[in-house]
Amino acid sequence: MPKERLDKITALNCSVSRRDARKLIKEGRVSVNGQVALRAETEIDTQTDTIAVDGRQYAIKEHLYIMMNKPAGVISASEDKNKTTVVDLVAPELKRRSLFPAGRLDRDTTGLIIITDDGDFTHRLLSPSHHVYKKYIAKLDAPLSGESVRRLEAGIELEDGTKCLPARVKAYEENGAYFAEIEIREGKYHQVKRMTAACGSHVEELRRVRIGALALDETLAPGECRELTPSELTSLFND
Ligand code: URA
Repeated sequence: MPKERLDKITALNCSVSRRDARKLIKEGRVSVNGQVALRAETEIDTQTDTIAVDGRQYAIKEHLYIMMNKPAGVISASEDKNKTTVVDLVAPELKRRSLFPAGRLDRDTTGLIIITDDGDFTHRLLSPSHHVYKKYIAKLDAPLSGESVRRLEAGIELEDGTKCLPARVKAYEENGAYFAEIEIREGKYHQVKRMTAACGSHVEELRRVRIGALALDETLAPGECRELTPSELTSLFND
C-alpha cells in the first residue's frame, strides 16, 4: 500500500506549501478518516484513507503533474547555479521541492513540457517501449524532400551511426518558409535537429506541441503553467 506523510498529502491536495500544510495540521483543521490528526508525519494510505480540511473532503492525489509552455532560454532541469530552469518558473502555489521536468527540451526549444514529482510516470512517458509519440513543429532552412521524409519514416541513421526509430513526418511550406511536423517516440540528444540535419535541412526553430494525445494549451503564455486535469493525464498515454 502506498504510504505518504500527512503534511505532504495535505500540501499536494490543497495546493498549499508544506509549511502551510503543517500549520493547518497543528491547528487541528485536518482530519483523517473522520478523526482530527495533529501530527504532520501521520502515515496516509493514499488508496484507502480519506482526508478533510475544515470539514471538506479531498480526493487524495499522490503526485503533481504540471503542463508548462516552455519559453526559449530556460533549461530543462530542476535547479542550476546560473541559468533559469523550468522548475524556477513554476507558479508558487504549485512549487514543491521534489519537482523535475519529465524529459528534456533544448534550451532554445519551446512548447509543451510536463513537470512532475512522479518518477514512474516519467519513465513510462519517456521509454520508447511505451510508444508515446511527442510531436514537434520544426522551422527549417531548406525543404525536406519526399525521399528525406521516407528516410525519416523508415527510421533514419544519423551522421554518427545512431539509428532512430521510425518517425511520423509531414513536410509543408507556409508563407515561403519550410516546416516539418515530426513525431518521435524516443528522446535522443538533439534528436529532431540531428534527424533533419541528416537530410540536409537545419532546424531554425523547434516547438513541441503534443505528447500522446495531449496538446499544448495554447492559452498558456510562454513560461506559464497549470496542473493537468485527470483526463489530460490519461490522454498522455493515448494516441
Ligand atoms: N529534439 C531536439 O533536437 N531538441 C529538442 O529539444 C527536442 C527534440
